[in-house]
Amino acid sequence: MESLIRELVETYGPSGEEGAVRELIESKVKDSVDRTFTDNLGNLFALREGPAPLLMFSAHMDEIGVIVTHIDKSGFMRIAPVGGVRPHLLPGQRVIFKNGVVGTVNYEQIKELKELDWPKLFLDIGAVDADAAGERVRIGDIACLHQPFVNLGERYLSKALDDRAGCAVLVEAARRLPRSLPQGVCFVFSVQEEVGLRGATTAAYRLEPDYGFAIDVTMVGDTPEAPVMAVSLGKGPAIKVKDRSVLCHPAVRDTMVEIAEKEKIPYQLEVLELGGTDAGAIHLSRGGVPSGAVSIPCRYVHAPSEMVDAGDIGHAVTLIEKLALRDWPLPGEGGKKS
Ligand code: CO
Ligand code: ZN
Repeated sequence: MESLIRELVETYGPSGEEGAVRELIESKVKDSVDRTFTDNLGNLFALREGPAPLLMFSAHMDEIGVIVTHIDKSGFMRIAPVGGVRPHLLPGQRVIFKNGVVGTVNYEQIKELKELDWPKLFLDIGAVDADAAGERVRIGDIACLHQPFVNLGERYLSKALDDRAGCAVLVEAARRLPRSLPQGVCFVFSVQEEVGLRGATTAAYRLEPDYGFAIDVTMVGDTPEAPVMAVSLGKGPAIKVKDRSVLCHPAVRDTMVEIAEKEKIPYQLEVLELGGTDAGAIHLSRGGVPSGAVSIPCRYVHAPSEMVDAGDIGHAVTLIEKLALRDWPLPGEGGKKS
């Protein structure tokens, strides 16, 4: 899986610009499913047909980035965040645009570090003046972080592990599924999660799943003086209980725990006080969709170098596989019959 993750994280794909990631994933997943299709926003669906109920597994393709808001006479650019980018993590970093243009972010003279906010930041692509800059980059162009994938042994370091690690888990789970399944399963690779779960919103509306599962990264509490959180790297995937976007359906959550225990998959329970995930959009679709989430513990989420544990990724694949193989009942009251 390492090479799959490496290819995915090193592909350009900020929110709204997921095309290259989508093409890559489609090429990797199409032989494992009955058919693939996309919708008008760019979500990719990879469907294994089967009887009801229908399970939707969603991982987002987009990554955080910066958008060019202004180019001055000397060719310096001003930027704004696309998704949850913290300005103090950018100075000294390189970013790359869709056309391959690379630049570095730095900041104006300041007296105190707390002044380090978006208006003080600028992007330099090495252009000699505004005209030269404008030939390569235009207002509204979006760049993502430019950091290579590194295998640290037990752990992987890269930009965009949020959520290409989740995409890789779904691709691998799709490959492992047997010929016959107890129900339909659709792997969705969603767009625009980082700007508000937008892709998952339309994807769930179109698909009408009976159950929804997000696969995404979550924060950890295992670094020096981190905010208290009962999730660590290397202790298995986390079964989400709650984040800001969803209270996971108790029956779904309990079934996930039961499967993990039965299959001896290490797991942790996750309460994330910040952030949301595709399950937040899926569970509010139409008449409501019982939803849960498998989270990959990740250090430094939304930093230029995020870190995940290779073992957690492997166990997440197994958990998704077992979730798909479970014979799920049709949801109770208000459940859709086909
Ligand atoms: Co994110
Ligand atoms: Zn994410």
